[in-house]
Amino acid sequence: MSRKFQAVRGTKDILPGEVEKWQFVESVTREICECFGFSEIRTPILETTDLFVRSSGETTDLVSKEMYSFLDKGKNQVTMKPELTAPVVRAFVQHNLAAIKGLTKLFYIMPGFRQERPQAGRLRQFHQIGVEAIGSENPEIDAEVIALASMLYSSFGVEHSIALNSIGAPCCRPNYIEKLTAMLAEQKSNLCETCQTRIEKNPLRTLDCKNEECQKIYRNDAPKITENLCDDCSNHFEEVKQHLDNLGVDYKIDPFLVRGLDYYTRTAFEFRSAAIGSQDALCGGGRYDLLVEELGGKPTPAIGFAAGIERLLMAMESIEIEPPILDLYFVVLGDLARTKAIPMVMAIRANGFRVETDYLRRSMKAQMREANKLGTKFVAILGDNELENGIVILKNMETSEQSEIPIDEFVEKFIQLN
Ligand code: HAM
Repeated sequence: MSRKFQAVRGTKDILPGEVEKWQFVESVTREICECFGFSEIRTPILETTDLFVRSSGETTDLVSKEMYSFLDKGKNQVTMKPELTAPVVRAFVQHNLAAIKGLTKLFYIMPGFRQERPQAGRLRQFHQIGVEAIGSENPEIDAEVIALASMLYSSFGVEHSIALNSIGAPCCRPNYIEKLTAMLAEQKSNLCETCQTRIEKNPLRTLDCKNEECQKIYRNDAPKITENLCDDCSNHFEEVKQHLDNLGVDYKIDPFLVRGLDYYTRTAFEFRSAAIGSQDALCGGGRYDLLVEELGGKPTPAIGFAAGIERLLMAMESIEIEPPILDLYFVVLGDLARTKAIPMVMAIRANGFRVETDYLRRSMKAQMREANKLGTKFVAILGDNELENGIVILKNMETSEQSEIPIDEFVEKFIQLN
């Protein structure tokens, strides 16, 4: 026997039965995003590697450990996108989308690739629903983007908590980083190895450490960034909270919430669910007011989020999507009947009906069994007897009513009947 191939570790096939759930999530997402005035964007899987180095930051896990990067045959250094904000901003700048509208509101449903250790809720090819609102620094858009994410989860019946923070900007963050670094230096010997190396490279990221001992130290001793914001950032944060309160969106301030990517400024948030295990982050996002300029555009403030679809589906595990109902199963017996039936099947399909027939040349009994299994509304039967009499038998599977229809009129009659 030849070798059986397996999907690459950390990637998953989405099979019939499950794919309907994805389609449902995607269609509700499109509806909600469009209600909020967002338009869909799709970007390529491959980007130049330096796009991510520049945007996410060289010292982040994403860039230093997790990217699928390679030299292509033209010796270009390319990467399979590990996150989708930088590609969307790259496209925004490349196509000068700012010239079309003052505020550009984009959403996407796209895959991302990260070479992480696979586990429940963590894949190497995962998929995100995301939105990016590019062009406004005002807090009302922060609140609206968070409210959109919340509406998305609520519409799927997923309970979630929202952790909210402001991580300041170049106006006040250096001052905070100085205080944080002093505290980290004092505690250095009590911190894990990763945190120790981060003290110099990327001190803010220490706060995101998963080590319990480190967390204990930070929660007790680390200065709170929310208490070290400048007036502008502090007022901005106050207004975001007010708008969220007005909208009735529940959130909890977490002054130690920092995000895994370096491009964030001011508002940062995460949605979590207790229902999905240790990888409990449903969605994450925040403001990235400097990124557009960093990627070659004019200074343009922006905010967005991305929600993992696999984790969303885990959180809504119990949903059952009814498979689409078959309108007609065409039972055919014999070569001549088959030749006559196939064009009829096609013609009825061309009118928007779901029609199935037999391609395995099975017995009448086996075909009827299949029709029952598929739960079809009608069964049509065309065999030698029917051919002789010039008719097709049509059976309504719900009422068991049966009628005989002349072969030449069958397509028209079936369409009229439905
Ligand atoms: P992120 O926090 O890296 O942010 O990812 C957002 C969400 O994507 C996570 O909360 C999780 O649900 C899902 N996710 C990430 N990695 C994986 C994985 N390996 N397997 C399964 N799910 C995963 C970003 O990607 C930012 N670009 C979000 C953003 C948009 N910020 C502003 N705009």
